[in-house]
Amino acid sequence: MVQERETAVVDHYNVNSLGERILDALQRSGLELDTLTPIDLAPVDEFHMGGRAATAHVIGMMDLPVGAHVLDVGSGLGGVARYLAAECGYLATGIDLTPEFVRVAQMLTERTGLTDHVDFRAGSALDLPWPMASFDAAVTFHVAMNIADRPRLYAEVARVVRPGGVFAIYDVMKGPNEGMLFPVSWAETAETSFLATPAAMGKLLDEAGFEVTHEEDRREFALEHHRTRLATISAADGPPPLGIHLLQGETAGIKSRNMIKMLEADQITLGVIIARRQD
Ligand SMILES: C[S@@+](CC[C@H](N)C(=O)[O-])C[C@H]1O[C@@H](n2cnc3c(N)ncnc32)[C@H](O)[C@@H]1O
Repeated sequence: MVQERETAVVDHYNVNSLGERILDALQRSGLELDTLTPIDLAPVDEFHMGGRAATAHVIGMMDLPVGAHVLDVGSGLGGVARYLAAECGYLATGIDLTPEFVRVAQMLTERTGLTDHVDFRAGSALDLPWPMASFDAAVTFHVAMNIADRPRLYAEVARVVRPGGVFAIYDVMKGPNEGMLFPVSWAETAETSFLATPAAMGKLLDEAGFEVTHEEDRREFALEHHRTRLATISAADGPPPLGIHLLQGETAGIKSRNMIKMLEADQITLGVIIARRQD
């Protein structure tokens, strides 16, 4: 069952020739491929609401020392991992289920000269290939929505983060009201969508051995994000060459419209949780 679900998740995210498409879009945006910086990539490699600004907001709350080793679970194209290295001086390791995303993450890391500080591997968040206490911290950015077995996910993160380490979560969560619309950016159907309320998340984290130290509801921010995105996608001259639409294809507009409806109806919300791994 886990394997079937994971295959469906990979099928959802996979985009053929994604690396070539991104390089082409970067060139069409007027950027030199030989001198790319992480900031140049931000419109496409930060695959979560609010992009790089949201990354800065969440990572800023982790308060880690320079040199900390951070695991990015569900690292996608690697925007968050490269941010951790380039802006904060951390070491970052990413793991992601979608092999094409991992290949592109590695290619973009080489092109931005960050391979000494950032590495990626393909694999599942439910079976992390590292021994206990390998990392000082971990993050999940818009990942857990695809994962049914949340106890196992958070147990795996708790296992590989050292006691006292920090875990930052930035995820879509279930709201107080019932109901879901599809497609959304993480799933075509309910088959690969598993949301938990902020309260349920707190309980899951507690059971996994984390103490929640900070929680934020970012529903208004999420609404603003999708209203702006919808306007960009629907603009008469179309979206700019580089953007998340490269990952979402032709249904990008429908996905944002569904998000707006569900946020307005309090069926979903966007949350940040910072937790500390208990000793
Ligand atoms: C919406 S993207 C977010 C990517 C990245 N965190 C970011 O913010 O740019 C969700 C990512 O989670 C990954 N993912 C989903 N389920 C996973 C699992 N069980 N193990 C590892 N990665 C997973 C997907 O392959 C995809 O790259």
